[in-house]
Amino acid sequence: MERTYIMVKPDGVRRGLTGEIISRIERKGFKIVAMKKMVISREIAETHYGEHKGKPFFEGLVNFITSGPVVAMVVEGPQAISEMRRLMGATRPWEAAPGTIRADFATTVDENIIHGSDGPESAAREIGIFFKPEEIIG
Ligand code: CMP
Repeated sequence: MERTYIMVKPDGVRRGLTGEIISRIERKGFKIVAMKKMVISREIAETHYGEHKGKPFFEGLVNFITSGPVVAMVVEGPQAISEMRRLMGATRPWEAAPGTIRADFATTVDENIIHGSDGPESAAREIGIFFKPEEIIG
């Protein structure tokens, strides 16, 4: 059993896609073991996206992710990290396979609807940034 950090980004929340995304996760058979709607502070955004610091898109990324509420989740299931990335599709929506969340709902790399951890270390780190252990209900 694996856990991953999933976040509906501000564009997904604004466009009313939260329910669709939750539904896809649940229909797959994964369990949402924690979830909250929140506005991310600049400080948390910079910590969460720390690995991208210095990249040309960093400032825009932080501005975007703090621009409105997100829905943060912990998703649990077998191979949850890689399977959620498969459900999400490639970061660049035009490279995402048909039927994936990003292929179906996004057109640009900066507003690509959803975030999912890219490996076990980032999953543990990101879950720790957004959730206290007692907020995760298995
Ligand atoms: P995410 O998986 O949330 O992690 C980093 C994010 O940076 C990525 O999704 C993209 O939405 C965003 N981003 C914005 N511009 C770029 C870019 N030029 N290349 C890669 N990622 C980008």
